[in-house]
Amino acid sequence: MRRAFLFFIPQHFTGKKYLMKHFLNTQDWTRPELDELLKQAAAFKTSKLGDQLKGRAVALVFFNPSLRTRTSFELGTFQMGGHAVVLAPGKDAWPIEFELGSVMSGDTEEHIAEVAKVLSSYVDLIAVRAFPKFISWDEDRQDKVLNSFAKYSTVPVINMETITHPCQELAHALALQEHFKTSDLRGKKYVLTWTYHPKALNTAVANSALTIATRMGMDVTLLCPTPEYVLDQRYMDWAKTNVAENGGSLSVSHDIASAYQDADIVYAKSWGALPYFGDWEKEKPIRDQYKHFIVDEAKMALTNNGVFSHCLPLRRNVKATDGVMDSPNCIAVQEAANRLHVQKAVMASLIKQ
Ligand code: CP
Repeated sequence: MRRAFLFFIPQHFTGKKYLMKHFLNTQDWTRPELDELLKQAAAFKTSKLGDQLKGRAVALVFFNPSLRTRTSFELGTFQMGGHAVVLAPGKDAWPIEFELGSVMSGDTEEHIAEVAKVLSSYVDLIAVRAFPKFISWDEDRQDKVLNSFAKYSTVPVINMETITHPCQELAHALALQEHFKTSDLRGKKYVLTWTYHPKALNTAVANSALTIATRMGMDVTLLCPTPEYVLDQRYMDWAKTNVAENGGSLSVSHDIASAYQDADIVYAKSWGALPYFGDWEKEKPIRDQYKHFIVDEAKMALTNNGVFSHCLPLRRNVKATDGVMDSPNCIAVQEAANRLHVQKAVMASLIKQ
């Protein structure tokens, strides 16, 4: 039976509770709820097929390319007896308008108010990937596309990566729990390191890594070239809240050797410095000075036989060397594989509402 629920702006912005639960950010979910998702994901790993989505449908709305997310969501839906419809607005579906009160005389053909309601009448879950437009961070940090889907949809909405990547967070946490053979990651020294990339990339995975690592109570160091590469205050604040609630610690470092020293976990990601957001020509000569942030064998040798991971895709010998990627301590592929299981847990949980 179709449900008609009201939508409230995300809890982490307002302190209000949802009437309908979405999966927009892990910060909106309690720690016991996240632990339950991880437990369910581990169960899906040993028992692949189920009927949690039998007769149900999921819309996968992609504004940006994907290999892992699309494959794992489509297969996950299939393995639970459901059907996934993949849409790429502006390519195989009409371009969508997100501004309220807009006179739609440009390229957009329909408004999110109709799109979300129409999709909700067909499907039981809507998952959305919408990267920043990289013009204004003030604009992109509002996460307007995702929040608009959640506002107008009458079925649960899942974030498949916007300015955070919560599905990647769960896959990462599960891979670490598997590696260390414990669900309790407290006391682990965790380094989130910026790495070089020729293009200025999204901060989503970095925001998410900081969020989940602190949520798990680890001792977290954000390693980046200069203060300009520190993440948005919203995510730094989430991390501080998480430390206060879950233990562990948070520090920012610009010193490679001391950050890697005795680390148990090294997680790498490249991102553009927010003060230059949308002005990447100005940032490029700055970023180009920091190619030595590449994760290599010498840096990993400083760690406590540390495990390495990355969300993928990864440019070899730019972000991390072949030696690091091919090392038995690299769990990036395992983390990617876990996307299937954690997303099944998320979909199965949301569909029960
Ligand atoms: N990590 C990740 O989301 O991969 P894709 O961009 O290939 O989906």
